[in-house]
Amino acid sequence: MADDTFLAHGPRVAIRRITVRDHAEIDALARASAALHVPWVPRWEHTPDSFAAYVERFDHATHKGFVICLHETGAVVGGVNINNIVRGTIQSGSLGYAAYAPTTGRGYMTEGLRLVMAYAFDDLGLHRLEANIQPANVASIRLVERLGFEREGYSPRFQYLDGAWRGHERWAVTAEMALGDPRDAG
Ligand SMILES: CC(C)(COP(=O)(O)OP(=O)(O)OC[C@H]1O[C@@H](n2cnc3c(N)ncnc32)[C@H](O)[C@@H]1OP(=O)(O)O)[C@@H](O)C(=O)NCCC(=O)NCCS
Repeated sequence: MADDTFLAHGPRVAIRRITVRDHAEIDALARASAALHVPWVPRWEHTPDSFAAYVERFDHATHKGFVICLHETGAVVGGVNINNIVRGTIQSGSLGYAAYAPTTGRGYMTEGLRLVMAYAFDDLGLHRLEANIQPANVASIRLVERLGFEREGYSPRFQYLDGAWRGHERWAVTAEMALGDPRDAG
């Protein structure tokens, strides 16, 4: 059964797992946010069925999907996925995230992504999170810089988005960096 309890709270937002019941709200938000999202993330094209298949992906250990909600109202203000989780000696996952047009630029993503980072390191036991970001995506680079990520390098032709293979900068944070731990030896 879908679990919609909050996993963590910040001053203004809380995070919970995405569920199939979020379809109508996210569908309306994503349609209103096309100008904000394209070409940075895949174009929103979900039907209720394809959304259910998308959410089902997060039942697997390799993918976790979260929504960021205002705790006063429960309204969804953003989403964060941890994709392609690798365990063993790597313990890393790849982030995907998006704000929505009605509530972007208010600090909700910074607060929500910080909660997801803490959950990933403390509850999921991950050691590293990476974000692959197109160099022109200034808002996204500013977001991860604020949260302590460092630029590791550049991957040419990394992801097919909006009709082209687009190069991405690879940004990452480890648990030690996020905690400001001096044991971070690089
Ligand atoms: C990248 C993205 C998620 C960033 O979202 P965002 O809304 O800018 O992030 P926040 O909610 O944390 O808002 C931060 C901004 O709000 C401002 N802000 C306003 N009021 C604030 C408050 N009370 N507290 C904190 N910040 C506040 C901050 O100054 C900051 O602006 P700045 O970056 O110009 O300095 C968003 O631009 C987006 O969805 N882009 C399209 C999808 C995308 O690119 N995804 C990532 C692919 S790599």
